[in-house]
Amino acid sequence: MTTPVRDLPLLLLGEGSDPASERGVDCPGELPPASDPALVERARAAKAALGDSVFVLGHHYQRDEVIQFADVTGDSFKLAQKAAARPEAPYIVFCGVHFMAESADILTAPHQKVILPDLGAGCSMADMATFDQVEECWDVLEDAGVADDVVPVTYMNSSADIKGFVGRHGGVVCTSSNAKRALDWAYAKGKKVLFLPDQHLGRNTAVLEMGFSLDDCVVYSPHRRGGGLTHQQLRDARMILWRGHCSVHGRFSKESVDDVRARVPGVNVLVHPECRHEVVTAADQIGSTEYIIKTIEAAEPGTSWAVGTELNLVRRLANAHPDKNVMFLDKTVCYCSTMNRIDLPHLVWTLEALVRGEVENVITVDEDTARNARAALDQMLALP
Ligand code: 13P
Ligand code: SF4
Repeated sequence: MTTPVRDLPLLLLGEGSDPASERGVDCPGELPPASDPALVERARAAKAALGDSVFVLGHHYQRDEVIQFADVTGDSFKLAQKAAARPEAPYIVFCGVHFMAESADILTAPHQKVILPDLGAGCSMADMATFDQVEECWDVLEDAGVADDVVPVTYMNSSADIKGFVGRHGGVVCTSSNAKRALDWAYAKGKKVLFLPDQHLGRNTAVLEMGFSLDDCVVYSPHRRGGGLTHQQLRDARMILWRGHCSVHGRFSKESVDDVRARVPGVNVLVHPECRHEVVTAADQIGSTEYIIKTIEAAEPGTSWAVGTELNLVRRLANAHPDKNVMFLDKTVCYCSTMNRIDLPHLVWTLEALVRGEVENVITVDEDTARNARAALDQMLALP
């Protein structure tokens, strides 16, 4: 975003306004009522009227009612690539969350406008690392005398400001499918990594895929003086993990795994690497959203799968594979609340506005931030 966030007062989802953050903000639209029985027809008609001028992207965690109108579905990285590969579409409607729309804006041509149907669709994990906090962390690393040894790596699920910071400091962006390759690259360049903002993806990759011990990792807490770490701890650490997590994947526990194993004989537990370390070590398989989809598609009929990721995706996989027993890992229903903010009324409002020539909810990253963020994204694309 254009303006770095200066502070983080409590802001309830959907109330107040802070477009410089990932948090929920008001959507300015006059939305059609959710009860309107013509919504599906209205979306279809608006999309047909717009033809090739609009390209609708749908993240795997989106609702079915929205996914049915997506020209392409995918994880955050695939969707940004798809948007970049469609320069003939002046309007990209991104059914996902704010950081994804920012990445799409960075990777698309200047004449293309990226639209987020509800500005309230932020990401609580991305909000856990603000620009000022990360600048302050770098000062702490300098004071400890280790900054020159540190290569910053940020997960795709971070604001454009953070990607820009990482690009400016010679680092790289990663996704859950290429985190190991990004870390291999980073450790060939420096002795330590600052991993933002998801501590779990960083820890799980370092320990389970790179042979690090848990003691090689320390957690930097942005709300504590000096990150809550001594200079000696920062000097000894190989992996400095930011204290951030996904509120959806963070819900799964070792008990959820034990419970499903007790209830469903022979069940395979398949989880996303944003889950806690105790969960991934208790699971049978770990992988990104795309990996989870491919694994279920390739599974033998009659097999059972307890899947630890967002519920819209798990339910869609269960419906698409009735010959396999696909279930949600937790007993409690849990959607990503911000992903779910994009619903049919918001999509209809966005598309009908475009038909009238009104372009709502455009996500724009300023050129300076975009240039640095693009360097970190390009570095990811160039990973061996
Ligand atoms: P991917 O889209 O990269 O799988 O990330 C998972 C996620 O939590 C998206 O918000
Ligand atoms: Fe953010 Fe987690 Fe929701 Fe993804 S699933 S958008 S990481 S809160």
